Amino acid sequence: MSYNLLKGKRGVIFGALDENSIAWKTALKVHEEGGKFTLTNAPIAMRMGKINELAKTCNTEVIPADATSEQDLNNLFTKSQEMLGGKLDFVLHSIGMSPNIRKGKEYGDMNYEWYLKTLDISALSFHKILQTCEKLDALNEYASVVGLSYIAAQRAYPDYTDMAQAKAMLESIARSYGQRYGSKKKVRVNTISQSPTKTTAGAGISGFDVFFDYADLMSPLGNATAEDCANYIVVMFSDLTRMVTMQNLMHDGGFSSSGITDALVERLTK
Ligand SMILES: NC(=O)c1ccc[n+]([C@@H]2O[C@H](COP(=O)([O-])OP(=O)(O)OC[C@H]3O[C@@H](n4cnc5c(N)ncnc54)[C@H](O)[C@@H]3O)[C@@H](O)[C@H]2O)c1
Repeated sequence: MSYNLLKGKRGVIFGALDENSIAWKTALKVHEEGGKFTLTNAPIAMRMGKINELAKTCNTEVIPADATSEQDLNNLFTKSQEMLGGKLDFVLHSIGMSPNIRKGKEYGDMNYEWYLKTLDISALSFHKILQTCEKLDALNEYASVVGLSYIAAQRAYPDYTDMAQAKAMLESIARSYGQRYGSKKKVRVNTISQSPTKTTAGAGISGFDVFFDYADLMSPLGNATAEDCANYIVVMFSDLTRMVTMQNLMHDGGFSSSGITDALVERLTK
């Protein structure tokens, strides 16, 4: 069911790789709610993924951009405004990648070149996007910029390795840039801290199935799905959340406020 929450709004959605991606589900919801947008992903992901199928469904186009390249971002935001016919109202940063995790490196054996890549792709890109938008004056007042985070920014998870630092940095950028952009142009910047979700990025982390099940048992509402997350993002893009900025918003079925749950006690009782 559509509420037309995003009618007349324009934006850019980063990170739709396949139908499991949080960004993919978000694009479908934003389309359903009347928003218009361009899709983007890294050139290499374009060859592997199916983003063109999604573009067809949403009646839009794909503009390739490596989110670490200022030149690509400049081109993306310039072209998106041209194609969509004006300044933008929403941006989704749904980007994460750690070469150390991908290559199975332990936290005590980090490759530092890859570590910097993790931070550049998964966190600094958020700053680059915001700075590009500010320099191009690409965003309307009360535009909403959302990044996706994970609770490993606050708590230690052994297999999340350098991505934990990337998420802490991502959340920090949301606060610092949110303050700057809010006072200059009334632009809102937030992160959403999402439950473990079965996607390409999620499943790449070793032991994922175990902490997926653990989080499910530790959350009174269970894990939030990618589709639930897409719904929340739509609300964050809408005018219903005009005064929300500089926040890390927990979207986790209650996980982050639970000490232990009956479901977990039952599972662990010998
Ligand atoms: N899956 C989970 O359990 C989970 C939980 C909390 C937060 N998140 C976060 O949600 C976001 C989306 O991940 P997802 O789970 O949908 O997985 P996904 O693998 O579908 O999406 C990750 C995307 O990042 C893109 N990407 C990688 N390098 C890039 C670059 N240099 N430039 C542009 N794009 C690049 C990939 O192509 C891919 O589309 C990530 O920030 C992830 O950390 C995921």
